[in-house]
Amino acid sequence: MTTLRTAANVGTAQPRLEAREKVTGQALYAVDRPLPGAVYAWPVQAAFARGRVKGVDTAPALAIDGVLAVLWHGNAPRLEPANDPTLLVLQSPGVAFHGQVVALVVATTLESAREGAEAVVVQAEVQPADTVLRADHPGLYEPATVNAGYVGRVEKGDFDAGFAAAEVRVDATYRTPIEHHNPMEPHATTAFWERGRLVVFDATQSSTTVRDTLAALFELPPQLVRVQNEHVGGGFGSKGQPRVNVVLAAMAARFVGRPVKLALSRQMLFALAGYRTPTIQRVRLGADRNGRLLALAHDAISQTSRLVEFTEQSAVVSRVLYNPPDHVTTHRVVALDVPPPTWMRAPGDCPGSFALESAIDELAIAGNWDPVQLRIGNDTATDAEGLPFSSRHLVECLRHGADLFGWAGRDPRPAARREGRWLLGTGVASASFPAITWPSTATARATADEHFEVAVNAADIGTGARTVMRQIAADALGCDASRVEITVGDSAIGPAAVAGGSMGTSSWGWAVTKACRLLIERIERDHDGSVPPEGVAVSADTTADIAARDEYARHAFGAQFCALRVDPSTGEVRIDRMLGVFAAGRIINPTTARSQLLGAMTMGASMALMEQTILDPRSGDFVTSDLASYHVAVNADVPRIDVEFVPEEDPHLNPMGSKGIGELGIVGAAAAVANAVHHATGTRVRSLPITPSSLF
Ligand code: MOS
Repeated sequence: MTTLRTAANVGTAQPRLEAREKVTGQALYAVDRPLPGAVYAWPVQAAFARGRVKGVDTAPALAIDGVLAVLWHGNAPRLEPANDPTLLVLQSPGVAFHGQVVALVVATTLESAREGAEAVVVQAEVQPADTVLRADHPGLYEPATVNAGYVGRVEKGDFDAGFAAAEVRVDATYRTPIEHHNPMEPHATTAFWERGRLVVFDATQSSTTVRDTLAALFELPPQLVRVQNEHVGGGFGSKGQPRVNVVLAAMAARFVGRPVKLALSRQMLFALAGYRTPTIQRVRLGADRNGRLLALAHDAISQTSRLVEFTEQSAVVSRVLYNPPDHVTTHRVVALDVPPPTWMRAPGDCPGSFALESAIDELAIAGNWDPVQLRIGNDTATDAEGLPFSSRHLVECLRHGADLFGWAGRDPRPAARREGRWLLGTGVASASFPAITWPSTATARATADEHFEVAVNAADIGTGARTVMRQIAADALGCDASRVEITVGDSAIGPAAVAGGSMGTSSWGWAVTKACRLLIERIERDHDGSVPPEGVAVSADTTADIAARDEYARHAFGAQFCALRVDPSTGEVRIDRMLGVFAAGRIINPTTARSQLLGAMTMGASMALMEQTILDPRSGDFVTSDLASYHVAVNADVPRIDVEFVPEEDPHLNPMGSKGIGELGIVGAAAAVANAVHHATGTRVRSLPITPSSLF
């Protein structure tokens, strides 16, 4: 694979192009755009988890000043079938989860819409609901495929024989709770219809997907739908697919014939924007007396809703990190009367690595091996399905991390170090995340005044995507970045990958590189090297290029270290420092890359010590549904976090040589914390979060 023309921009620290706009409040998010005649919508949610809506009394709401309409399944515009039945909102009387939208009030002010929603009377037939995941739930089944298209079960060798023959064994079950993404910007949409065309501004990680979904739902040719997302205030996966807000806004705008703004409230996000499924994971490890892994079994259980099958791929990380001869990974799921779970930062690998990397720590203790050395000794050149890695520098991450962290000479005994009243501990864990590249398109245009306009339908959800795309474009064009104008966040540009699965930079960047190279070729070939007055424009599509790649296991790797203290009388855990060392291909922009990994490690610390959503089994409602009761790490909780990179060249990826970095940093982070808590206290917490009460 040929690399970029120059490397003047790629690899250099460049500040975000939109930084000033954002910090001065000029950046316009989904419902910020002033629009003449815009009205407001507020959803009415089901107050029960299972049943039917028998009727909706709209009269009290319609009597309120300013209320224009109340939509419900009796009068809402009809939708065509969708891939995601969750989006078929207000189409039928059935209710499949607490908080499902059963009506929508549209009014001239936000206040009257909200007042109207409170006045709507919903008559319902309520049925008993089944809302709690249990390891012995009779409805558990083994799906053939799990999220991201992985096969549910991978098996090789004879696990039972290998495990029985092992000299050191671990058999433990780990639990992770329901977790919510909590992006700063809620799921929000402005929608209007213009001569049969639908235009929306949506808080989404993929305006391509939103456009295609709206086109299908409203039976429109895709070119009559335009979705814009110039700025998006975070997503963490919850904005990876369209949510009911965009469907409701489009529906309401058609119904009242005016632009509609709809921003879900923080509380509504808990039921309507997805969450990370709780998991129950059994991990069994067997090793010989030298610390060589012989057998690994990872059996993961998760929940889905009755509307969609969504199986968190929690055991997949065990197919990547270790490859003993006897190896089995399985997934089971049960459909409950709960909101649909969804993608959340490092789906599968994040909860899976908590279980796996805690178990590896338990194995190290059982065999009296150093946990860094145990991991190094069990490195592998192929994954559990036999594919070679395109590049893998996990050992380098562990070694470099151990040096930087000061791991040498660590006393392995638990609860053996004190500083005043505090017990001190250190922990380590490995990380990996797939390096995905998805087909994308991009356009590039040269102007007669020697500037370049490059467009790719990336979503900058706070990552620095547009900045990084400009760096890639400038190097592919061989010019200074100041001569490149980059446009992102508009479905009209052409289809492109979601800002998810850590695939953005590699996917969009390849399309940008290809378009820019084509442009230079075109100028040289057809215009003797000089741009005519009308300019030169090209477009590129990477579908064939990606299909033509050789088969490899492509993943980024990392090593997570944590030092913390525990107050033995209160159970309070304070993290002192975290260090993450990552090998993630070529780092395009060290500033924004560090920021991604720092954020993900923070989210991992937050997962380890704070985050959990409590569900009330009687109602099926989430009782922690705001930022006062759902704790997310704040500045005061965040210790010193260091992010380092191991340089990595990988010719099997894409023209930039990049891997994804958005999710890698959360993988293993919670295990590193839990392992450090064990080292500090001697207490093994196998159920997150690690709260004071879990230490007694
Ligand atoms: Mo990420 S959960 O793939 O947006």
